[in-house]
Amino acid sequence: MILNRLEYAVVNNPVRATMQRHWVAKRLLRMGGPVPGGTVLEIGCGRGIGVEIILDLFEAKHVDAFDLDARMISRAQNRLRHRAKQVRLWNGDVTAIEANKDQYDAVFDFGVVHHVPDWRLALSEVYHVLKPGGRFYAEEGLKKLITHWLVRRLTVHPQEDRFTHEQFCAAMEAMGFDVIDSKEMPGGFGWYVAEKPAVVS
Ligand SMILES: C[S@@+](CC[C@H](N)C(=O)[O-])C[C@H]1O[C@@H](n2cnc3c(N)ncnc32)[C@H](O)[C@@H]1O
Repeated sequence: MILNRLEYAVVNNPVRATMQRHWVAKRLLRMGGPVPGGTVLEIGCGRGIGVEIILDLFEAKHVDAFDLDARMISRAQNRLRHRAKQVRLWNGDVTAIEANKDQYDAVFDFGVVHHVPDWRLALSEVYHVLKPGGRFYAEEGLKKLITHWLVRRLTVHPQEDRFTHEQFCAAMEAMGFDVIDSKEMPGGFGWYVAEKPAVVS
């Protein structure tokens, strides 16, 4: 789903960038470690702060990234133009990822899957494009946040079939992921690192 005006402004805000860099990313790094020299995908990349984090903090060599909203991709292209050799950006949908099976060392999701009506399909697409042994790093919005009356009033999110922390972990496990670490945060956020097993049994 495309963000409404308020959430678009909140996401494209220095406060969000500071929190993403100094709080969320550092915590995900402690949970799952870096991806040195890796080829990484970011889903729903927004204006490109996550791509910078993946290159600089997680030590990836190359990042592919896409977003459903063409305005976000324009912003990301502008922001990342001096790093064009390391980055490929496109307008795309996480429920139909334009990539090969087993292509990426890691996939990052900074607050995207809860925007997708068929969130299990999004997770299965992530699983498909990860290499065996590859890791999925996610910051997500949980059911209690997304269905809160104030959030419903101010933003636009799918309301049917939203996930709790336990349901998100269970869905990843059911898909074949090993959940390496997870943390439910106050306020209805969850942080996750899951691995596609190196040898699929
Ligand atoms: C809450 S914003 C987060 C943006 C960015 N990752 C960040 O952390 O600042 C959610 C993003 O997901 C994108 N999005 C929503 N549905 C999507 C889909 N089906 N496929 C790809 N991106 C999607 C939105 O356009 C938006 O940029």
